Amino acid sequence: VLWSHLCCIYLSFFSGCRGEENVRQPTEDVMVVEGHPTTLTCLFDTSQSPYLFWYKQLANGKPIFMLRRDAFSPGESSTEFKDRFDAHLNVSGKSVPLTIQRVQLSDSAVYYCEPYNIL
Ligand SMILES: *[C@@H]1O[C@H](CO)[C@@H](O)[C@H](O)[C@H]1NC(C)=O
Repeated sequence: VLWSHLCCIYLSFFSGCRGEENVRQPTEDVMVVEGHPTTLTCLFDTSQSPYLFWYKQLANGKPIFMLRRDAFSPGESSTEFKDRFDAHLNVSGKSVPLTIQRVQLSDSAVYYCEPYNIL
């Protein structure tokens, strides 16, 4: 068995400089074994209206809209991210964790959440 093929995939959080103080992503790098699930955390300030967007960004690429969650509707997910990606807005916990099922090599990217639509 070539373990290097099974382990590991890095998922990074955006870690600053977007000038956004209303959102916190406490973990910066997550290492995941291919095929396993993982959860990325996003905490938000309760004073903000709870519309949260998750984006995926590849190296030197534009952010890609993944999904939006809010307290007033089921939200929406981009077609590409309907299958293995999901997020649940937790208003009392002030979080909108992103879960990824069956992590693949192509998931290796920077993921970040924003309280508004940046695209
Ligand atoms: C929401 O977050 C709170 C605080 O972290 C937690 O105790 C609670 O279980 C969460 N609720 C759901 C539905 O995940």
